[in-house]
Amino acid sequence: MRDLASLRAEFALAPGLLYMNHAAVAPWPRRAADAACRFAQENAATGAAHYPRWLETEQRLRQRLARLINAAPDDVALLKNTSEGLSTVAFGLSWGPGDSVVGVASDFPSNRVVWEALAEYGVGFRGVEVNGVADPESALMAACDASTRLLAVSWVHYVTGLTLDLERLGEFCRQRDILFCVDAIQGLGALPIDVRACRVDFLAADGHKWLLGPEGIAVFYCRPEVRDRLRLRQIGWHSLEHPGDYDRPAWSLATSARRFECGSPNLLGIHALEASLSLLEEIGADWIAGRVRGNTRRLREACRSLPRVEVRGPEEPGRWSGIVSLRVADRDSARLVSRLAAAGILCASRGGGVRLSPHFYFQDNEIERCLNALCVLIAE
Ligand SMILES: Cc1ncc(COP(=O)(O)O)c(C=O)c1O
Repeated sequence: MRDLASLRAEFALAPGLLYMNHAAVAPWPRRAADAACRFAQENAATGAAHYPRWLETEQRLRQRLARLINAAPDDVALLKNTSEGLSTVAFGLSWGPGDSVVGVASDFPSNRVVWEALAEYGVGFRGVEVNGVADPESALMAACDASTRLLAVSWVHYVTGLTLDLERLGEFCRQRDILFCVDAIQGLGALPIDVRACRVDFLAADGHKWLLGPEGIAVFYCRPEVRDRLRLRQIGWHSLEHPGDYDRPAWSLATSARRFECGSPNLLGIHALEASLSLLEEIGADWIAGRVRGNTRRLREACRSLPRVEVRGPEEPGRWSGIVSLRVADRDSARLVSRLAAAGILCASRGGGVRLSPHFYFQDNEIERCLNALCVLIAE
């Protein structure tokens, strides 16, 4: 299913609304909204009578997420959000004074503060700047030394859209016995990823951006070989090997990544996200990435020719994602964003610039409409 008009029809966006804000919180496709409505109606009519069927949907979601990142379903946990996944790693590993974590200095707060908070265990966080640097992977690798236990990066930078070469970083980490943790929220659903090829130890991503799902339901991947290195800071019935066997006095943790799931699952979110992922899977990750990067190319090229506009982020197409950030000289970005919103174009102000983030289903004429609106605002 790759006909753009029918893909566009998968979304019930309000007429005239250009949604260029998938890097913030995405709109759901119709099928996700329908799944959530059906789930709500079923709850209202029959309570949890169909719980076994709901659990089948949960299993399907786990399988879809596993396929999306090339992992086994048993290596995937369904957590609340990216931050919870990163915290599971940070506070699950055992640290010693003098250990260090290397990461991105200008990363989204969740992927900085969680490592900085380890200072109380004597762990140092080394933040490396990756934007505007010729070889960001080399800069990150150069910051690692014998004290470095973990490299924690965002796959795609939330302001500039810079995409890091995870394969290169993962290989470096594995060779030096450094754990590799990836915040994938700004890439997953827009670009393909293979956690095995990239030698990722831990990956976390919430569903509400490029995965087109709701907030509060996230994927957490943990490489099985390092699973036992994460001490659990929260445990409940759902973390156990026999979760439904409430009368069993002796218990053990689930051998699978389900051990990271403490209690009752977010089945409402699971139903919606499962439906969103069915759409992404039908279309295919490579085709989606082609469209997403095509949008980025068009926006970057056109914005560069506008007067007083600085297009931020990487020049090399291989480093592009779905995010395009720009600054207009002498213009307040937050004001530009609200003027665009008044014209029916939703985007965000981040890092002092205007961040545009359209997804695969954008039509060329919609990109043109955004560019025209920008031209008008800049000319004022
Ligand atoms: C790179 C990055 N990490 C994490 C988050 C937030 O994650 P969550 O709300 O799922 O914890 C964001 C949100 O913008 C982000 O851009």
